[in-house]
Amino acid sequence: MKRVITYGTFDLMHYGHINLLKRAKALGDYLVVVISSDEFNWNEKQKKCYFTYEQRKALVEACRYVDLVIPETSWEQKREDVHEYHIDTFVMGNDWEGEFDFLKEEGVEVVYLDRTPEISTTQIKTDLTNG
Ligand code: CTP
Repeated sequence: MKRVITYGTFDLMHYGHINLLKRAKALGDYLVVVISSDEFNWNEKQKKCYFTYEQRKALVEACRYVDLVIPETSWEQKREDVHEYHIDTFVMGNDWEGEFDFLKEEGVEVVYLDRTPEISTTQIKTDLTNG
C-alpha cells in the first residue's frame, strides 16, 4: 500500500483544497492530512482561523479522499511523521516548491502539485469583506 501525506491549514474548505486532496490521493492508496492546530497557526504563522481545529478536522475527514487527519503542532514534526505513518510520498501545493526537499533524505518522494488558480482562503475572506 502506498501512503501519502500532506500538510495545511484548510480553513474555510474550498474547491482548491478538494482538488489538492483528490490529486494527492491519486498518488497512492492511503492519504494522511496534517492540519495546523489553532495554537500552531497563531504562534508560528500569525494566522487566526475562522473555523477551529476540530471544525476544520471534521470537514477534511468528511472528504472521500482522506483516510486520516492528525494535528500539526511544530515545523519539525514532518521528519518524524513520515516514519511514524510509513509514508512513501509527501505532497504540497507549489506555493511551497522546494521548501520540503530535505525530506528526500528520509527516503520519501517529494511532490509539489500546481495550485488551483484564483481561489484561496485569504481570497474568500477578502471578497466577503469587500461585499
Ligand atoms: N491549495 C491549492 N490550490 C489552492 C489553494 C490551496 O492547491 N487554490 C493547496 C495548498 O497549496 C496547500 C493546501 O491546499 O497544499 C492547503 O492550503 P492552505 O494554505 O490551507 O489554503 P489556502 O487557500 O492557500 O489558504 P491561505 O489563503 O490562508 O494561504
